Amino acid sequence: MKISKKIQDALNGQINKELYSAYVYMSMAANFEQESLTGFSHWMRVQAKEELGHAMKIYQFILDRDGIIELEQISKPNGKWNSPAHIIETAYKHEQSVTQSIHNIIKIAEAEHDKATDVFLHWFVDEQVEEEANASELLDRVKLAKTGEGLLILDKQLSERKD
Ligand SMILES: [Fe+2]
Ligand SMILES: [Fe+2]
Repeated sequence: MKISKKIQDALNGQINKELYSAYVYMSMAANFEQESLTGFSHWMRVQAKEELGHAMKIYQFILDRDGIIELEQISKPNGKWNSPAHIIETAYKHEQSVTQSIHNIIKIAEAEHDKATDVFLHWFVDEQVEEEANASELLDRVKLAKTGEGLLILDKQLSERKD
């Protein structure tokens, strides 16, 4: 069954959001590296790659449903933060907005009785639970690291994130 225009637009919009997410994390990675927090930077780079993966998953789904890919302009990330905690807090809020966006598309799919899109997006619902949990846990741990030493221990741990 060919995808409707409405779902196609929503999914193309989600591709844009995932690419923007990659941009945000790339920007955060650069910021951390400038502060010599290379473990945080590595973690953010891995996250950016994951976001590209999300975009490509939706991209393939649109094509599989005989839809048209429409790539829009990617917004410029803010790129200015005043502390590691501020960066991670931004990441957490960002993931919450991505979750909201996924849930909105599911509502559209339900209204249109588009079962395939509905089921396809369930993977993203689970993924967002994980993303929010990761960001929230990281935020707690950054807040716990009150000294430079604490931050460096956390940095070392984050450097071990698998690609
Ligand atoms: Fe994502
Ligand atoms: Fe993830």
